[in-house]
Amino acid sequence: MKIMLVCGARPNFMKVAAIYAAAQECQAPLTFSLVHTGQHYDANMSDVFFSQLGLPQPDYHLNVGSGSHALQTAEIMRRFEPVLLEQGPDWLVVVGDVNSTMACALVAAKLGVRVAHVEAGLRSFDRRMPEEINRVVTDAISDLLLVSEPSGLDHLRREGVPADRLHFVGNVMVDTLLRCRPRAQRPAFCDEQQLRSKQYVTLTLHRPSNVDDLDNLRRLVDVLLEISREIPLVFPVHPRTLGKLDAAGLLTRLQAEPRCILIPPAGYLEFLYLMDHSRLIVTDSGGIQEESTVLGVPCLTLRENTERPITLEQGTSILVGTDPAKLLGAVQTILTSRPRASKVPEKWDGFAGQRIVEILASRF
Ligand code: UD1
Repeated sequence: MKIMLVCGARPNFMKVAAIYAAAQECQAPLTFSLVHTGQHYDANMSDVFFSQLGLPQPDYHLNVGSGSHALQTAEIMRRFEPVLLEQGPDWLVVVGDVNSTMACALVAAKLGVRVAHVEAGLRSFDRRMPEEINRVVTDAISDLLLVSEPSGLDHLRREGVPADRLHFVGNVMVDTLLRCRPRAQRPAFCDEQQLRSKQYVTLTLHRPSNVDDLDNLRRLVDVLLEISREIPLVFPVHPRTLGKLDAAGLLTRLQAEPRCILIPPAGYLEFLYLMDHSRLIVTDSGGIQEESTVLGVPCLTLRENTERPITLEQGTSILVGTDPAKLLGAVQTILTSRPRASKVPEKWDGFAGQRIVEILASRF
């Protein structure tokens, strides 16, 4: 049986790596090929993940690059179709909720190639998020829906997905996190800055809802500067955010504050170290809400909603919304109180990739 795996953007690489690693250990006669759409293309947004996670070079690289949503999605579809026709896999496996996920799933569904969606069923119920559209579309046309947390099962059942297409497999991102944790790397700047374990905050920001509105971004930067006066702030800056900060003249303000440590996007092993040793994580990423939950590090999530409610119910994440005014108080509360009790959700155990490969093999 031929299985094709697709990845395109940074959060895809750790998920695909888990499935690829499980496939290497599987006895069933499955062959895997890997397609990289090129949605993310910088060395530190893409290449470093391949080397650190033990992923092979992709069999196909579509080199699509950046663009508007329509352009990027269309270009991925246009370039992916001939690859799919040439390879003729039995299954296409797509992960997550990025444009590459939806674009490749659409191409496959229309050519009659069966689609398995990993991380199916997550819903923020906020259609202003491009990822929510990608999730809804991808789930609607997938033949196999592989779910990471119970809310995904509830949503898909309510949407009428038959039981034989639904599987609660757990969280592939956690497979990679647990496998790599012993190899986490302390970045060189930590010594230069004399950063001590549990005595700094790690921050990531890239969502349009936080960085696209310049007034909001300006208010957010004011709050970040205040936070950095209380505790050092480590901020690996996403290229999209870098562009917005620069355009608004805010980058120099952040750079001028010595305890606000701006670094380029970090590699997987370096970022894992930074998260694991943080006193607190502040983020608008979906994946980091999950990773902080597994690491047991408090996480303030700068969003109005989340498609990953289990990280709020059982994990370490707290939604603070997108109003920067609420962030400072939330940080101070965390820094002055005992950590809230949390637990690692069911099936976030390092074996999700193995379950997925077994399910695919059983469909042979
Ligand atoms: C994408 C995903 C988002 C995911 C995020 C992780 C969609 C709709 N969004 O958002 O769900 O959380 O990746 O990073 O698929 N850029 C570079 N170098 C790169 C990649 C991007 O400079 O290697 C810049 C470009 O200016 C580009 C911008 O970042 O226009 C945004 O990239 P894009 O892939 O369109 O969306 P992300 O914001 O990264």
